[in-house]
Amino acid sequence: MFEITRLTVEHLAAGCVTDCSTPRIGFSLSSDRRGAQLADAELTVGDWSAHVTSGQNAAYVGPALLPFTTYSVRLNATDDAGETATATTTFETGRMETPWKGRWISDPSYHFTEPKVSPVPMVFRKEITTNKPIARARLYATAMGIYEAELNGQKLGEQYFAPGFTSYKSYLQYQTYDVTALLTGADTLTFTVAGGWAVGSFVFTRKNRVTADRQALLAELRIEYTDGTTETIGTDATWQVSENGPVRMADLYDGETYDATKEISDWHNAAPETLKVTPAITADYGAPVKAHEVRKPVAVMTAPDGETIYDFGQNLAGVVRIKFNGKAGQVVTVRHAEILNPDGSLNTTFLRTAKATATYTCRDGEQTYSPRFSYMGFRYAGVKGVDAKDLEIEAVALYSDVEHSGSFRCSDEMLNKLQSNITWGAKSNFVDIPTDCPQRDERMGWTGDIAVFSPTALYNFELSRFLEKWLRDVKAEQLPTGGIPNTVPVQGYGFPATMPEMAVDWWGDACVLVPWALYEATGSLDVLRMMYPTMQKYVKACCFWAGFGIGKHRYIWHTPSVLHFGDWVAPDVPKMSQWQARSKYTATASLCNTSGTLAKIARILGKTEDAAKYKELSRKVADAYCSVLTDGNGKTKEEFQTAYVLPLYLNMFPENVKAKAAENLVKLVEKNDYKIGTGFPGTPYILFALADNGHADTAYKMLLNTQCPSWLYEVRVGATTVWERWDGLDENGECPIGDDGTDMMISYNHYASGAVGAFLYRRVLGVEPTEAGYRKFKFAPVVGGGITEAEGTVGTPYGVIKAAWKIADGEMTMTVAVPVGTECTVVLPSGEEKVLGSGEYTVTAKA
Ligand code: BGC
Repeated sequence: MFEITRLTVEHLAAGCVTDCSTPRIGFSLSSDRRGAQLADAELTVGDWSAHVTSGQNAAYVGPALLPFTTYSVRLNATDDAGETATATTTFETGRMETPWKGRWISDPSYHFTEPKVSPVPMVFRKEITTNKPIARARLYATAMGIYEAELNGQKLGEQYFAPGFTSYKSYLQYQTYDVTALLTGADTLTFTVAGGWAVGSFVFTRKNRVTADRQALLAELRIEYTDGTTETIGTDATWQVSENGPVRMADLYDGETYDATKEISDWHNAAPETLKVTPAITADYGAPVKAHEVRKPVAVMTAPDGETIYDFGQNLAGVVRIKFNGKAGQVVTVRHAEILNPDGSLNTTFLRTAKATATYTCRDGEQTYSPRFSYMGFRYAGVKGVDAKDLEIEAVALYSDVEHSGSFRCSDEMLNKLQSNITWGAKSNFVDIPTDCPQRDERMGWTGDIAVFSPTALYNFELSRFLEKWLRDVKAEQLPTGGIPNTVPVQGYGFPATMPEMAVDWWGDACVLVPWALYEATGSLDVLRMMYPTMQKYVKACCFWAGFGIGKHRYIWHTPSVLHFGDWVAPDVPKMSQWQARSKYTATASLCNTSGTLAKIARILGKTEDAAKYKELSRKVADAYCSVLTDGNGKTKEEFQTAYVLPLYLNMFPENVKAKAAENLVKLVEKNDYKIGTGFPGTPYILFALADNGHADTAYKMLLNTQCPSWLYEVRVGATTVWERWDGLDENGECPIGDDGTDMMISYNHYASGAVGAFLYRRVLGVEPTEAGYRKFKFAPVVGGGITEAEGTVGTPYGVIKAAWKIADGEMTMTVAVPVGTECTVVLPSGEEKVLGSGEYTVTAKA
């Protein structure tokens, strides 16, 4: 049967509210007939229709869309055998720049000046009376701070931390709530607004009031009555405000303090507020943070001081939910940690200043509590103030609502655990923006981390909205001279404050590498178009900073190493300064990579002159690397794994020395007992550099190594996520690092080194796009390491690719499901290739 398996508007199958005047519609198809092709697709939006040739997103270009309107979308598709299929969905337009009738309001008497902490949450309220039948009612809301809206005490929507984390000086998102069925005639609308990122304390220096001096609210309830009249109730001075509600403290790092005995008091009138910034206010676009997995404890223990320790068996980002019978005034505290001390107590040392504590004052009777304005990174929770036998406790994972679209499994259980750890690392760090870690006083949008992790992330999750939204922030935060701040949104973080125009290799590269990874995974040109000017400016800035030498040295990027992160966290040298000292190699390779990628992007966008210019630049940089940083014969002047990995992976060596360089890398790896020696820039690529240059055996030895430092060492000693430092725990489960001059930089939930995940999909399983968005893809497993089978799924805009291979009795069996609209080249162990159209296939060959 020919079917439409997915119909989306702005990447959403349902519930899209958009301010975009040309929303994009995409679809995927399936058929049980091999080789089925789409013959015709007619898209209808309202009264407008058009024919499209593929399910790749097509922009609506009909008559101007009206604000506050629901549009129906219909797709009639016909395949090349004349079978037809139909699907429908709807989307809604948001405000589309309709001026707000509501005004920003705050509490004028509230002067929040304490340093390094977050403000007491404000509560706003408004009584609403309606006395006619309602056809449609929507609440539009945003805030300076993070808010939750309630109607008659019921939370609206499922989102945590609305309005989300954006480059606030440029734009702020508003949320839309359908309250049609909830209004009763006499209703109370309440908003609790905590400090969040905009007003609360953020960044390890614990800056606060970065965007606003105190919280503020902007909301509007728009009611359409069945008699055709409309009414709009906006925030104004008739709303009331109080700082005397039950949420006594809320801070992203420190946690939350909640007093359930407190009736909100001291209501007084709110007043108009003038913000320090004038952001555009747009319908929210990214992937809102929501509650996902709920985990019960796998073990309960008692710490020496009597604290009950719950082990949830999984490190994650989120909150606890507790349920018990309490007495008014009883105080329960929940602390959080990723690891335990040898004596069984929580180890909170590496949270640095983050207190990560929920404190709850009970009322009488059975009650449940879960923080709403903070989150923690934890595997263990320590509870005091209630007996373990009386308490039900769960851990709720909070992360951006992204679809888990890929999977990988093989015959090696340790690799399967690594795959699980990689996906948990991603979930824990997709909290509205891509963060570095979810536990200590950072949780910032570190650009370098997602720059290297995005290809792996995109194998596992559908991230179009999540990454496109963050790239809007990157674009907005680009410095006038082209540099990209190391954390996006910047939000109080200054580095490199002394030289604001500084470009930082691999970290700033996110503006090129993330759009490119998204393009490869989805085929979307939109993101390339949006980011092209940003990339150009960035590469120009990189060239400027590289260009201080003469001759070939003009292409060697050698600004002082303290201004780079170099081979960040490389385990073969223990000191931060030694990681940074490798920056000449990492930065030069970065420039070769960004300019080379930009050349490809320019070609795709039809900018042929630019393409030639960037290609030539990339070539010159590669040549300079080989001439200046190697002996010209495949040996790097300073020998370390990353120094070889980058030029090998990026194809920077001339053909005649490439093999020698690969052999030199193998020698280094052998000398290191197949242990990893790379930092952030080298880790994603080392196995490719080996396997793609004839050394798959060495790549597998490294991948399957269980000695420290290696991916599977972490697995062997019990990791449930990927760590920031390879040696984060010793064989006894204790942290051996201590204060090593990195300011306690030891997180157990950092996804960057999990960038090896792309190798699991691309080489172990063997699925990789050969045309963006997988319109064409390869199924070419690189068999090794004693692995006898692998299977996986890859989500693509055309549908899901399913691939599996198995070796038994000297035979290799490969099965693949090829989505309609795509073409798969299966590469057999002999090297023979078979090109397959859509459908399901099994191929066997001699192993
Ligand atoms: C973060 C990293 C980040 C790095 C750069 C760290 O503190 O956690 O992941 O990329 O700083 O310096």
